[in-house]
Amino acid sequence: MTKKITIAIDGHSSTGKSTVAKQLAKKLGYVYVDTGAMYRAVTLYAMRKIMVTDNKLDKEAILRHLAFISVKFKFDEDLGYGVIHLNNENVEKEIRLMEVSNNVSKVAAIPEVREMLVKQQHEIGEDGGVVMDGRDIGTVVFPDAELKLFMTASAEKRAERRYNELKEKGEDVNYEEVLKNVEERDHLDSTRETSPLVKADDAIEIDNSNLSREEQFEKILSLVKEKTEA
Ligand code: DC
Repeated sequence: MTKKITIAIDGHSSTGKSTVAKQLAKKLGYVYVDTGAMYRAVTLYAMRKIMVTDNKLDKEAILRHLAFISVKFKFDEDLGYGVIHLNNENVEKEIRLMEVSNNVSKVAAIPEVREMLVKQQHEIGEDGGVVMDGRDIGTVVFPDAELKLFMTASAEKRAERRYNELKEKGEDVNYEEVLKNVEERDHLDSTRETSPLVKADDAIEIDNSNLSREEQFEKILSLVKEKTEA
C-alpha cells in the first residue's frame, strides 16, 4: 500500500533543493511548493516600493502593506508545478535576479512576513502528497512531516552552481560576488531570531558536493519508498 506523505526539504541556498523537490513531485504525483519563491515575491514587492534596498529596510512600511500582498502559485500544465504570482503577475523570472537574492534574507527575517507565509504553506500542504522546500519546513511548517531531508554542499560548490545558472540566464555576474552572496545568506539565514535555518533532529542529511543529480535522486527515492511502502 502506497500512502501519500509530506516531504520536507530544507538546507542552505543552491544545494539543489528545488531540483530534487521538482523531480520527486513529478515522479510521485505530489504538489511541489517552493517556499523560497514566496519570500522572494514579498521581497520583490518591497523592492518595487523602495521599502528595502541594499542598505535600508523599512519594516513598518512592509507591515502596513502585508494585507495588499498576494502570493500564489498557479499551476502550469507544461511545467507540471505551480508558478509563483505576486498580485496576479507571474514573477518567476524576476524573483531570481541577483538584486532580489541580495535583499531576501532581510525580508525573510521579519516575523510577521514569516507568519503570513507559513500559514499559507500549511494550508497548501495540510492534506499531504506534498514536497515543500525551504529553510524551516521540517522544523516549523511541518514538524511532523514523514520524511525530512537536510541538504548541504560546500559554499564554493554552491556558488559555482549558482554562478553557472545565472550566467546561463545571461546575467552579468562574477564568481566572487556570487560566493559572497551565498556566504552572507548562509550567515543571515542561520543566525536570524525567527525560525533560523537548523537541521531538524530527525532530518536526514544529504551532502551532495560530490553526488550527481541522478545519484542523489536515487538515494532520496529509496528513502521515500521506505516511508511510503512500510
Ligand atoms: O531557497 P531560496 O534561495 O530561493 O530562498 C530565498 C530566501 O528566502 C533565502 O535567503 C532564505 C529565505 N527562506 C526562508 O527564510 N524560509 C524558507 N522556508 C524559504 C526561504
